[in-house]
Amino acid sequence: GDYDLLVVGSANADLVIGVERRPAAGETVLGSDLTVHPGGKGANQAVAAARLGARTALLARVGDDAHGRLLLDSQRAAGVDTDGVLVGGAPTGVALITVDPSGDNSIVVSPGANGRLTPGDIRGARELLARARVVSLQLEIPLDTVAEVARALPSGTRLVLNPSPPAPLPEDVLAVCDPLVVNEHEARYVLGEAGDRPEDWARDLLALGPRSVVVTLGAEGALVADAGGCVRLPSPEVDAVDTTGAGDAFTAALAWRLGLGETLAEAAGFAVRVGAAAVTGRGAQESFPRAGDSLPGEGESVPSGEG
Ligand code: RIB
Ligand code: NA
Repeated sequence: GDYDLLVVGSANADLVIGVERRPAAGETVLGSDLTVHPGGKGANQAVAAARLGARTALLARVGDDAHGRLLLDSQRAAGVDTDGVLVGGAPTGVALITVDPSGDNSIVVSPGANGRLTPGDIRGARELLARARVVSLQLEIPLDTVAEVARALPSGTRLVLNPSPPAPLPEDVLAVCDPLVVNEHEARYVLGEAGDRPEDWARDLLALGPRSVVVTLGAEGALVADAGGCVRLPSPEVDAVDTTGAGDAFTAALAWRLGLGETLAEAAGFAVRVGAAAVTGRGAQESFPRAGDSLPGEGESVPSGEG
């Protein structure tokens, strides 16, 4: 394909406030000055992949407003093809984010234009879909739209799906995920009832139909599973500043490397280091590593991906 990765998903303006602790219901706390960052799980993945050297396109919808322009600018600066970014219909999506001193975040997303990315928009982008080796989906766009992508996927195109934020996935969508990428929270949601060990979650998730499963474990790294078995990929130790978007960087790196022909364990081993790099800087996209940067763990640099 012309693209190593096509990301179909959300683009949000992230409005971020640092807090000592999150307010309880009915409580008010004072936080830091507000900062505004380009974000959204789809837009984050596209920037992460392009920074690493992947030929990347984004299919998304933003508003005809300042936040939309911020998002388009950050995509273009990273080298993402934005021909598939539709403009208008509603204001750009917004994420209200609080980050605590440990680097953990809480996020409320107002979908805005993301909620207006329709199955019809996907049908209108058939050509773009046909030009990608790997397609990556998350759930900040309507579920109908996600399902349309999964159903319109040309045979031979690999689908990577992160069900975030969690929502019930149709069986035929689950069946084409290769892999389904979940964190603990998402794993528990999809499973309903889950055992204690990530290995149990992976086994039970595989039984639901996806061709492969990746469970991200934060500071513990990740676990990959397919018919061939289950492998843990530990994360290098880093000082977490802001974990926002680290999962998106992980998934983008994974999707790109799978498209290049790496095994699930190889691709996830690389993705764990990309995710670790992303937690060491503030914001989502601003903290994603570039080709040539040395990554935490093994002091290894990122190959350009060309050739
Ligand atoms: O995964 C991180 C992203 O989630 C943020 O950039 C925010 O926009 C929300 O979509
Ligand atoms: Na970060």
